[in-house]
Amino acid sequence: MAAIKTIGVLTSGGDAPGMNAAIRAVTRSAIFNGFKVKGIYRGYKGLVDDEIVDLQTQSVSGIMHHGGTILKTARCKEFMTVEGRKQAYENMKKHDIDALVVIGGDGSLSGAQQFAKEFDIPIVGIPGTIDNDLSGTDHTIGYDTALNTIMWCVDRIRDTASSHERLFIIEVMGRESSFLALNGALASGAEAAIIPEIASKVDQLSELIQSGFRKSKNSSIALVAESPVTGGAMGVAERVKKEFPQYNVRVTILGHLQRGGSPTAQDRILASRMGAAAIDALMEGQRNIMIGDDDEKMIYVPFSKAIRHTKTIDTDLLDVLHRLSI
Ligand code: F6P
Repeated sequence: MAAIKTIGVLTSGGDAPGMNAAIRAVTRSAIFNGFKVKGIYRGYKGLVDDEIVDLQTQSVSGIMHHGGTILKTARCKEFMTVEGRKQAYENMKKHDIDALVVIGGDGSLSGAQQFAKEFDIPIVGIPGTIDNDLSGTDHTIGYDTALNTIMWCVDRIRDTASSHERLFIIEVMGRESSFLALNGALASGAEAAIIPEIASKVDQLSELIQSGFRKSKNSSIALVAESPVTGGAMGVAERVKKEFPQYNVRVTILGHLQRGGSPTAQDRILASRMGAAAIDALMEGQRNIMIGDDDEKMIYVPFSKAIRHTKTIDTDLLDVLHRLSI
């Protein structure tokens, strides 16, 4: 394997708070170790369209406390074709980029895996998504901030729920997994989390209504994971209106509020450690791996173990939620 001299870094897929801290850590750690760094704009799109710039230590000053990503992000259709990936490879060569660090979620790392396989490029992934749905890592960058945002929002909605004695159905993100709904419900003291993972086993709405609701309290909050299986907040509210018309129900969809904002300390620390670990990994000759955190330690997870796997949620947490909601 030829020695690596220049490392490219990009962010791809949905933005997540802490991505800037990761870009900063990759850039500074690479420069500290004697590498050149190139920033690629708009994820794989910038590789295909040749939007590539030099990054210096000062290029990443004053960014770690900002949400979003200074490199921008995109979902790129061209990169899904062989021709697109070939063009991306040509542009990498043009800029003397020998290795890549890809910061993103499952789709972005799947693209990295394919690209690395076809063109024999060392690629290291950093898990950046609010959904926390990548296997092999306890946490993804952005998850903690999104959880805190959900908690902040639900705290405020609870004021109205309790003043008006209403049932609020609040939809949160998490297309493929319900970490945000489940832990968001625990963090905000919601009465229920309606999640697709157990939808076939339990009618969670009936359970919510029949359990403590209205025995000991006059208002309730249920978090619903966005999903065709749950029907989302609108679907659940429609059912309430039909089946339990006695309840005064309202819907809030938190949407992209959850993706923005200044990252929490935990996300900044995680992003800084993962960015530095990505450069360590490349120096150790690692390739086609994702950096993960396992019990506070940085680990290397082969792409094949990190992506396209269902990361199981701890359904015992639903029991805790249930017990605390009486
Ligand atoms: O993958 C992260 C995520 O936030 C999902 O939870 C959500 O479904 C999706 O992105 C929405 O993405 P966008 O609106 O950018 O297409």
